[in-house]
Amino acid sequence: MAESLETLREEVLDRIARCATEPEIEDLRVEYLGRKGRLTLLLRGLKDLPPEERPQAGERLNQLRRLAEEKLAARLAQVKAREKERILREETVDITLPGSRWERGRMHPLTLVMDEIIDVFLGMGFEVARGPDIEDDYHNFEALNMPKDHPARDMQDTFFVSQDRLLRTHTSPVQIRVMESRRPPLQIIAPGAVYRHDDDATHSPMFHQVEGFMVDGHISFADLKGVLTHFIRRIFRPETKLRFRPSFFPFTEPSAEIDMQCVLCGGEGGKREGSACRVCKGSGWLEILGAGMIDPQVFKFVGYDPERVSGFAFGMGVERIAMLKFGIEDIRLFFQNDLRFLRQFV
Ligand code: PHE
Repeated sequence: MAESLETLREEVLDRIARCATEPEIEDLRVEYLGRKGRLTLLLRGLKDLPPEERPQAGERLNQLRRLAEEKLAARLAQVKAREKERILREETVDITLPGSRWERGRMHPLTLVMDEIIDVFLGMGFEVARGPDIEDDYHNFEALNMPKDHPARDMQDTFFVSQDRLLRTHTSPVQIRVMESRRPPLQIIAPGAVYRHDDDATHSPMFHQVEGFMVDGHISFADLKGVLTHFIRRIFRPETKLRFRPSFFPFTEPSAEIDMQCVLCGGEGGKREGSACRVCKGSGWLEILGAGMIDPQVFKFVGYDPERVSGFAFGMGVERIAMLKFGIEDIRLFFQNDLRFLRQFV
């Protein structure tokens, strides 16, 4: 008995020392000290020993049980402490590190200006129409009173897709498409991308226009003046003056080019400062819109009777308006996607 208890003691202590996790310790406790544990069974078996051996054997067994309990508890504490240390070491969060930010996106300056332009016209009762970027010759030129040999076609530096198909050079073909499919009264704006073979600080091969037109029984040049004056004063300053200069477009008659007072010098042309204004080159005026009364010939193309309807039309470049509004001097900035530029607009 004495000898086998000694072996058992060594075995227990050795196994406890080799436990590395809480569940291992618990398993070991059950194996030796549980209700059917080996030490428990030995203690229960004491009653079968001869009476004279019982006290000594009992004492030694109890000692061993207490020792096992102590060592298990000590080992458990050790394992728990190590685990805590590991967690502290491995799961540390360095709260002094810079956080990861995510930046909120924002509108492109052209989108901002486009939306603002559309808003002003919606306020005057206009509705928005759109047409295809790839047009046919008929809608882009022919029906706008520019037949095949018309010199005005040369001004437009067209990108052709095929003999008859091209990237629209202006938004005016939307006038034709809307009038073909609807009857007056019409009060329409047509925003969108247009394309011309041209590329420098003030021209981009793709840019944006907003077309507008109004057709009804008695639309006059005075209506055109009223609408455009209100528009420019809403987009720029409320006291901005406009100037209507005679001009020519094949699809309007009479035609006008409309200038507004310079956004920078306010019409002074920089004369007071002694040097010409950078924006208007000293003239005090900025060309901002093309417009006119819709040509009777155009009405004939869409099947309207020019004796019974009249209307005006106008077109403007969105990039130009954005450049004047924000003081941007190079149109290419809009399309280079340089975040340092784009972040300046909210
Ligand atoms: N379509 C013309 C252009 O692109 C602008 C314009 C539109 C002029 C409507 C008159 C009427 O230059």
